[in-house]
Amino acid sequence: MTHDTEPGTTDVVRDLTTSENTKGIQSFAEILHTPLPKHPPFFMDVTLRDGNQALRKPWNLDQKETIFKQLIKLGVQGIEVGFASSNDQEFEACNYLSSIAPENVVISSLSRAVEKEIDISWKAIQNAPKPRIHIVYPISAFTIENVLKTSPTKVLERIFQSVAYAKSLVGVRGEVQFSGEHFGDALENLDFAVEAFQTALNAGADVVNLPNTVERYRPWLFVSMVRAVTNALPKDTKISIHTHNDLGMATATTVESYFSGAIQLETALNGLGERAGNTNTYEVAIALHNCGVSVPLNFSAIYETSRLVSYLSDVPIYEKAPLIGEDVISHRSGIHQDGVAKTRHLEKGAYRAFDAGLIGRPEGDRIEFTSQSGKSAVFCILRDSGEDITLEQAGDLQPILKKISEESGKGELTLDEIKLEWNKIKAISYKTNQA
Ligand code: KIV
Ligand code: ZN
Repeated sequence: MTHDTEPGTTDVVRDLTTSENTKGIQSFAEILHTPLPKHPPFFMDVTLRDGNQALRKPWNLDQKETIFKQLIKLGVQGIEVGFASSNDQEFEACNYLSSIAPENVVISSLSRAVEKEIDISWKAIQNAPKPRIHIVYPISAFTIENVLKTSPTKVLERIFQSVAYAKSLVGVRGEVQFSGEHFGDALENLDFAVEAFQTALNAGADVVNLPNTVERYRPWLFVSMVRAVTNALPKDTKISIHTHNDLGMATATTVESYFSGAIQLETALNGLGERAGNTNTYEVAIALHNCGVSVPLNFSAIYETSRLVSYLSDVPIYEKAPLIGEDVISHRSGIHQDGVAKTRHLEKGAYRAFDAGLIGRPEGDRIEFTSQSGKSAVFCILRDSGEDITLEQAGDLQPILKKISEESGKGELTLDEIKLEWNKIKAISYKTNQA
């Protein structure tokens, strides 16, 4: 084993680069030195469409407008405002939101590959400064056989006709996006999937979207499929991905897809969406930011956005939800608290994956005292509250507090409870000094 510090040269790195696990993706050394993608990510928000269609109580126009304005504040580049042909209320919402859309934001409405629906989408969004008709049609062998009950040739015909029709409506002012539904299931007919996307491009599609409509397998598999399709299509093709979170890996899938050729990332606020939801916007944004990508979003609006969306959707935020969960900035175990205390002032915290202030959280790292906590916690808690305590005194107080926490069965102690015991120690030492 060598101890080279240069990345990519140690035995460990050499092992990794030749291991079966990384073969076929990129070598570990290559990953370390991979330049960032040339294009910044384009965030296409699907909260008002995929998110809304999965709510117990879909949003009314006022609620949609509130979310829409918050998305503008967050700075997303595109907003799918709805599925205009699904009902009258949805049409009105798509139409109204298009009329108040800023100049630089793409506004899209979803349609199936049916002319009547495409017409309604166009009617609803044509007044947006940057309108986009989004057409979805299934492309996996399983869905073609069991749901559409048709032939692959017919699927290609339908894709061509619908995209060409939409293109004739939007002219040069608007765009057409084609989504091959169930792309993530198209492993057994990946050549056909490529043909389907190429057909959409031939008919004039401006963006092709590769959805992991149902997340069933490894992120690696999906990402490899994205890379294969990206390499098979013309170089300047705008590739989008849209991933669902059925197995809890949608953020990983989306982040890695960006590094594998996808430019447009379809995500949703608070991860709302069908079943376990769509990819969570905040997680993708901060993960990319941590990797050095310049993310075109206003991070400081994230926390307030998450609260607003939770309130309007009536979907509570799990306290352990990454970034936005109430408890994810708390530290309770002694080892972690010691690391937190020693790295609080540094840009990189031993146990801090993100800076709470960056996403607009009002508080940073929180140190709480329980029976699991150490003297660093006592020191930090009392120092932060203005007490003049030394680390040694904190070491004396810690076992007393630990005992109280254990014996009372209440777990976390409040600042007042900690101060009460600290004041007792101070009083004893005062009397001792007086004597
Ligand atoms: O999950 C999905 O496949 C979709 C498409 C409309 C992109 O939501
Ligand atoms: Zn979806």
